[in-house]
Amino acid sequence: MSLDRAIPQALGTLILTRAMLKGCKIATKYSARNRATVYDGNCLDLLASMPDESMQLVVTSPPYNIGKEYEKRLRLSDYLDQQRDVISECTRVLRPDGHICWQVGNYTQNGSIVPLDAALYPIFCDLGLKMRNRIVWHFEHGLHCKNRFSGRYETINWYTKTDDYYFDLDPVRVPQKYPGKRHFKGPKAGEFSCNPLGKNPGDVWVFPNVKSNHVEKTSHPCQFPVELVERLVLSMTREDDSVLDPFLGAGTTIVAAMMHNRRGHGAEIVPEYIEIAKARINQAVRGTLPVRPKDRPVFDPKMAGKKLTTAPWLSKEWADAGTLFEKE
Ligand SMILES: C[S@@+](CC[C@H](N)C(=O)[O-])C[C@H]1O[C@@H](n2cnc3c(N)ncnc32)[C@H](O)[C@@H]1O
Repeated sequence: MSLDRAIPQALGTLILTRAMLKGCKIATKYSARNRATVYDGNCLDLLASMPDESMQLVVTSPPYNIGKEYEKRLRLSDYLDQQRDVISECTRVLRPDGHICWQVGNYTQNGSIVPLDAALYPIFCDLGLKMRNRIVWHFEHGLHCKNRFSGRYETINWYTKTDDYYFDLDPVRVPQKYPGKRHFKGPKAGEFSCNPLGKNPGDVWVFPNVKSNHVEKTSHPCQFPVELVERLVLSMTREDDSVLDPFLGAGTTIVAAMMHNRRGHGAEIVPEYIEIAKARINQAVRGTLPVRPKDRPVFDPKMAGKKLTTAPWLSKEWADAGTLFEKE
């Protein structure tokens, strides 16, 4: 590592350690010196106070225009215009080697779905951003639809400002399925064929969504899981870099950034969520925030020995007794 990176990094670690001992000072206005900024108001105002090329990563889940308690449902074209304003400002504040990760699902219109990633794609392209991955985030919980298949994924749309972007796969590698596999022919025959640090996690990510019995759940209706943001922070930023979330919600992005000694900044318009975000940031700094461990497998009721995984109507006794269907 070069000296001009190593010195700020060491200073950053020192400052964070002091913050952990004293609790963290959360600024309400942006300054490059802040470790954490929670701006109480519209993200466009926070963005206006930020200099060009100051953020290494923008990661967010914007309102989806579906009438949640924190948003007013707009005509789709008006919603897209609003998004364009925010994305354009995010692009201005992005460093040349930086990233934008826009996590979205579907907007629904009279029962028909509009995939927001597709609707937003032309906006990112017009701004000169380049898509690197459209990551599918799969989860198991959500509404049960009657007239279509229930939605069980959303996407994280990763764009970079230039071709010369910072990316480090090593901190986010995952265990291989067959770590003992060796090359069986060619000059490397007999050698292990896997990277000993683990494999690339791929572009389908399986993380439980934050519903009622998730350890991270707050009263916010649609939080990111911390582990999802961590994967982006660890692969796309270096220590002491700045991460921005224009639609901060319960503060997950700042939490994930600070847990890894990065700086985090965000805006939120709902006072209740601002308080939740501040409390979570302080807990994260003190190491007391409940966070789902990264290596915990996704809950499997059968593996956990839960009895209710067998439907009663499949059992022989029920069939014999004709409990469910009257015999004619
Ligand atoms: C989908 S939620 C984000 C949740 C967040 N990812 C988390 O983990 O908690 C979107 C948030 O953006 C906030 N919001 C909506 N419009 C905003 C604006 N113009 N500026 C700042 N925040 C806004 C909403 O109140 C809501 O909390």
